[in-house]
Amino acid sequence: MKFFIDTANLDQIKEAQDLGVLDGVTTNPSLMAKEGIKGAENIKQHYVDICNIVDGDVSAEVIATDYEGMIKEGEELAALHPQIVVKVPCTKAGIKAVKYLSSKNIRTNCTLIFSSGQALLAAKAGATYVSPFVGRLDDIGTDGVDLIAQIADMFNYYSFETEVLAASIRHTMHILQCVEAGADVATCPLSAITGLLNHPLTDKGLEQFLADYNKLNS
Ligand code: E4P
Repeated sequence: MKFFIDTANLDQIKEAQDLGVLDGVTTNPSLMAKEGIKGAENIKQHYVDICNIVDGDVSAEVIATDYEGMIKEGEELAALHPQIVVKVPCTKAGIKAVKYLSSKNIRTNCTLIFSSGQALLAAKAGATYVSPFVGRLDDIGTDGVDLIAQIADMFNYYSFETEVLAASIRHTMHILQCVEAGADVATCPLSAITGLLNHPLTDKGLEQFLADYNKLNS
């Protein structure tokens, strides 16, 4: 199971990288806007800055919605750094762009996946990753983790190499559920990753160990 951090915030990316368990980063236009990154050159530089912090894949999303625009932008993004994975929405133009980019050995992350049918098309087009959005499905009363399990089973059955990247992860329990469902990667906020550390028996046990040590050594 790989961990990606779902942010464009450099401090959080550094913190996750320092933890030693980070495998990559995903961004999207909303996350870039949240950091106030604007203008084509600043956006490109920000992706390079992220690549220079992490050892792993960095998803950079195209803004174009037409096929020609997506492949042009995708090629420009991929040329920025070898770690860049071009993120493309799961539309008709997007699937065609995934097919084209993968034929040029450019890795892709097909995003905004909300059904196993969309994931199937993305995998057939050669996507490196598909990103089903767990939290956004939960938000509308549909089981997001269930979709992860369906896609993971389908990819295993047909031996697709495309990896299931569970996205829109909102909390720690989502990560554990996605592990059980067979996700290859979870992209999460830092708080959901560090939440995996929390256990009251760890805190209590450590407190007891230190108290016993101090009884004899103070
Ligand atoms: C990452 O690839 C997705 O864009 C992101 O996880 C979406 O998360 P959200 O539903 O919390 O915005």
